[in-house]
Amino acid sequence: MIQIAPSILSADFMNLERDILHVIEAGADVLHVDVMDGHYVPNLTIGPPVIQSIKSKVDIPLDVHIMIEHPDDWIERYVQAGANELTFHVEAARDVEQCIQHIHEHGAQAGLSLNPKTPIERIFPYLQNLDLVLIMSVEPGFGGQSFIESTYDKITALKNALSRQNTDCIISVDGGVNATNAAQLQKAGVNRLVAGSAIFKAKAYFEAIQALRQ
Ligand code: DX5
Ligand code: ZN
Repeated sequence: MIQIAPSILSADFMNLERDILHVIEAGADVLHVDVMDGHYVPNLTIGPPVIQSIKSKVDIPLDVHIMIEHPDDWIERYVQAGANELTFHVEAARDVEQCIQHIHEHGAQAGLSLNPKTPIERIFPYLQNLDLVLIMSVEPGFGGQSFIESTYDKITALKNALSRQNTDCIISVDGGVNATNAAQLQKAGVNRLVAGSAIFKAKAYFEAIQALRQ
């Protein structure tokens, strides 16, 4: 079954606890937490202290997506703050292999993400050690953008590479995911849908999550 990961970037930050508990009650499988540093992406969100607060109230896994320059220097802090899964960007890391290793050493699952313009082949050398690949289907930095159609080809290429290498990981897609493209994404082989506006801007979270699942 496909996992639904609401991205709290589109929640009401003045009512973050209310929105998070509400979306969990509505059936979220994991909570997608977007960290932006104002350098790697032109937007700024939250860091370890807020993640720690969220962790203390939430019993589903935290899928933390760090859109930051040099994630190498921050891994320990994000895992200690409560990231069950920590995903960083292949374009931003000094030493990808070492970042993956550090995430594992600190006891979390390791994810690698790539931007729409980055060729999927860039992540193939790391597949054996990854728990998750996060394919960006919009330029990272903002919620509410339109899904980039060439993402489907990337998913297919990734699926082929995984089977060639006789390995497996969660394939997650992030950006512009909605009830219209969810079925095709699932058919392409995606295991997890990250959705911000499609859930938090909907009138009813439960129906929005059901629509994505179906
Ligand atoms: C974008 C973030 C996404 C964002 C998705 O950089 O990584 O997680 O919240 O938002 P929607 O679903 O609105 O495109
Ligand atoms: Zn994200």
